Amino acid sequence: MGKATNITWHEGKVTKEERQKLKGHKSAVLWFTGLSGAGKSTLSVAVEQALYNRGIHTYILDGDNVRHGLNNNLGFSHEDRKENIRRIGEVSKLFVDAGIMALTAFISPYRDDRDLVRRLVKDGEFIEIYVKCSLSECERRDPKGLYKKARSGEIKGFTGIDAPYEAPKHPELVIETDRQPLEDSAAQVIHYLEEKGYIKKQA
Ligand code: ADX
Repeated sequence: MGKATNITWHEGKVTKEERQKLKGHKSAVLWFTGLSGAGKSTLSVAVEQALYNRGIHTYILDGDNVRHGLNNNLGFSHEDRKENIRRIGEVSKLFVDAGIMALTAFISPYRDDRDLVRRLVKDGEFIEIYVKCSLSECERRDPKGLYKKARSGEIKGFTGIDAPYEAPKHPELVIETDRQPLEDSAAQVIHYLEEKGYIKKQA
């Protein structure tokens, strides 16, 4: 629970629904979760570009980037990862309230933490996208050389090696990045958003 007392919520005059109407689309959080190297950041960038091309207002929150600023006081213990995801959940909620399609790319390895974010926003505003990729393929890609360091013991508590990753049980979408090219993965997300009425179908 929060530390602050004697605080009161102050309502604005413009509602989330009015902001969404102004923008011409719904807002939600596209929560990409998966192992390091699975392709969360790459996929979120491709999806953002596709959304932008359709006139959708977007913003990406990316693990490595957010850890440079807002969350630069957090490490990779279970407790710190939990706090990382809690803060990003709250920030995502603000973006949704602002009428923006937020895309988040965090490993977010713990199911409880992701479920907490799901409960923060309204039904349908949290779209969990499991960016599925085998550990062996993530290790083969090793874009930042971190798996190598984790295997040699230089990094401790690395997700997938000596820290857990709890795969989603009922994600809205599963994208298998080791089975299809990036364009197909991005198209899968866009198709979902169209089918569910978040964005308009293109003529
Ligand atoms: S999370 O677990 O708290 O969701 P987050 O997505 O913010 O993680 O950050 C993951 C990124 O931090 C990885 O892609 C990798 O570049 C880097 N990193 C550094 N140390 C670790 C570690 N021990 N486990 C996982 N990722 C790490």
